[in-house]
Amino acid sequence: MKILLIGSSGLLGNAYAEAAVRRRHKVIALYNQHSPSVDGVHQSIQFDATQPESLTATCLELWPDAIINCAAISSPAEVDANPQLAEKVNVALPRFLAQISTHIGARLIHISTDMVFDGHSAESYRSTDMPAPNNLYGQTKLMAEREVLEHNPEDPVVLRIPILMGNSPRGERSVHEKLLAAIQSGEKPKLFCDEIRQPCSASNVAEVMLELTERRDLHGIFHWAGSDALSRFVMGQRILQHFGLPLDSIESVCKNDDPDFANRPTNLTFNLHPIVSKLKTKPASFEEQLKELTQIRPLNA
Ligand SMILES: NC(=O)c1ccc[n+]([C@@H]2O[C@H](COP(=O)([O-])OP(=O)(O)OC[C@H]3O[C@@H](n4cnc5c(N)ncnc54)[C@H](OP(=O)(O)O)[C@@H]3O)[C@@H](O)[C@H]2O)c1
Repeated sequence: MKILLIGSSGLLGNAYAEAAVRRRHKVIALYNQHSPSVDGVHQSIQFDATQPESLTATCLELWPDAIINCAAISSPAEVDANPQLAEKVNVALPRFLAQISTHIGARLIHISTDMVFDGHSAESYRSTDMPAPNNLYGQTKLMAEREVLEHNPEDPVVLRIPILMGNSPRGERSVHEKLLAAIQSGEKPKLFCDEIRQPCSASNVAEVMLELTERRDLHGIFHWAGSDALSRFVMGQRILQHFGLPLDSIESVCKNDDPDFANRPTNLTFNLHPIVSKLKTKPASFEEQLKELTQIRPLNA
């Protein structure tokens, strides 16, 4: 298939490009500031998502079979710092991609987040549950979902994913990379013992996205995550164990002890039905995700 991949230089886009090239798809990799590092992509094109209509000619010329959107302002702090940019990249771009994919009959896979929910439910979230984001990042991602479904009513997939593990192209984006960098800079990170997440590796999500790219019988909103639910603190401990680092490099804190953190999610876990029974890819365990990790720089442990 001919695949137009937007956000190919990010943590997830990079993993998707690797998986799609391995499966011999023709990948046209779009990036903004960082040229993608995956061997075997057919073509790389610089693109500024704040002017999405500049993609029209590319789409009409290449006429891709699938458009995959991994581009986003993906850090909640960055969204708060620059809401206008976030609106353009996180909302206006998906709207345009939904319109152009409808026009050319391309499969559209758009990536969303567990943070469209507030994390205050005792149950794992189903894809049919009512979203209620509690930060601006989650609000932009929810608006994007609605734009995608409105402007591509026939063949869209919105895949909501959890916090991502894995090795990012520049070693600075994923959970373990941020944690180890903080420790390396002399911090003792405080991690919540009462915030439960269901992390997944970017490579496992990429396999799911590829199956969804190829399976045009599945449409709508789906949830994907790893098979294990853990607190932020336990995730940190397991990462330290994996790299043989002292467990006292991090500190356990309870968000329930501090009213400043009352709004943080307690439980951002996903119910993976119905998608989990329809795909060959299985959710990765946290142990499997750890085995993929490499340490970019040596730590002064
Ligand atoms: N990482 C997580 O834990 C996580 C969790 C849940 C959901 N998600 C979602 O998963 C998707 C991928 O996230 P990620 O972690 O892979 O993000 P990332 O590593 O921050 O990568 C973001 C990508 O978006 C591109 N981009 C940003 N601004 C752009 C602009 N103005 N024009 C064109 N491209 C632009 C970046 O290009 P350059 O680098 O070339 O500038 C990069 O390729 C996003 O939709 C995110 O919301 C991520």
